Amino acid sequence: MHKIQKAVIPAAGLGTRFLPATKATPKEMLPVVDKPAIQYVVEEAAAAGLNDVLMITGRNKRALEDHFDRNYELESALTRKGDDERLVRVQESSELATMHYVRQGDPKGLGHAVLCAEPHVGDEPFAVLLGDDLIDPRDPLLARMTEIQEREGGSVVALMEVAPEQIHLYGCAAVEVTPEADVVRVTGLVEKPEAGDAPSNLAVIGRYVLDPAVFGVLRDTEPGRGGEIQLTDALQQLAADEKLGGPVHGVVFRGRRYDTGDRGDYLRAIVRLACEREDLGPDFRTWLRDFAATEL
Ligand code: UTP
Repeated sequence: MHKIQKAVIPAAGLGTRFLPATKATPKEMLPVVDKPAIQYVVEEAAAAGLNDVLMITGRNKRALEDHFDRNYELESALTRKGDDERLVRVQESSELATMHYVRQGDPKGLGHAVLCAEPHVGDEPFAVLLGDDLIDPRDPLLARMTEIQEREGGSVVALMEVAPEQIHLYGCAAVEVTPEADVVRVTGLVEKPEAGDAPSNLAVIGRYVLDPAVFGVLRDTEPGRGGEIQLTDALQQLAADEKLGGPVHGVVFRGRRYDTGDRGDYLRAIVRLACEREDLGPDFRTWLRDFAATEL
């Protein structure tokens, strides 16, 4: 079995839900407290031992590349001022992982974005992390997924229980239980089903560990929902026919996750993370309590 080393982060979507903020800035660069959302995701990949990160970018890619590169001008200004604390924080993002970039060109869907990773990934299993989903570092998910993939082969998706009225927002998995409480066998996947048609309450969230057979399947996947090439459609093929690329398992995540692709959840993520920060939290919580008591 391969030890998984490569992470792919698709970041070429249009980010229409955040317009006009995302007119000239990728949504992945929007700050969550004082770090861009994408940095949390690269930190998560590095923490799971994935030190080779390929970002799929589109228009406005410069800010993403610059963020993970050195900024000598800024660094020497901070050095001159003796501001070591900020210097360390500025350097952190350029030391997390070996970064690679490829352009998607036309944003033809998440499946198409993943297909753009094929020349870099080659013939080995790899992880995919979506920048919209922030997984709290205290609740590691990716390491468990790579462990299951290395043991079982095939592909592994991350699943989360959601309320029936939420399932139409996600890909949904049909599953069989396994002896491990947090692991299921995925027998089918449907993209954004109505509550009545959903095979379970298990939603696919933005972490995947994929067998490279997914590339061949994606090449033959016709545009689906919204005219986009859907990753879920390719995973459905893999789940339906084990001969293509081994089994598909799901790891059921019960930890803290923030969906920063949605404006409401983005605001909630910032408030929660700010409350938990040692430096900002105490003052911010006091203000928030007063605000809730007097203004809500
Ligand atoms: P979303 O469905 O959230 O689309 O993509 P989006 O365009 O980024 O955002 P909205 O819905 O218009 O606000 C899920 C993930 O897939 C990437 C996005 O960057 C995001 O991380 N993606 C999507 C691509 O890389 N390429 C695509 O063609 C589509």
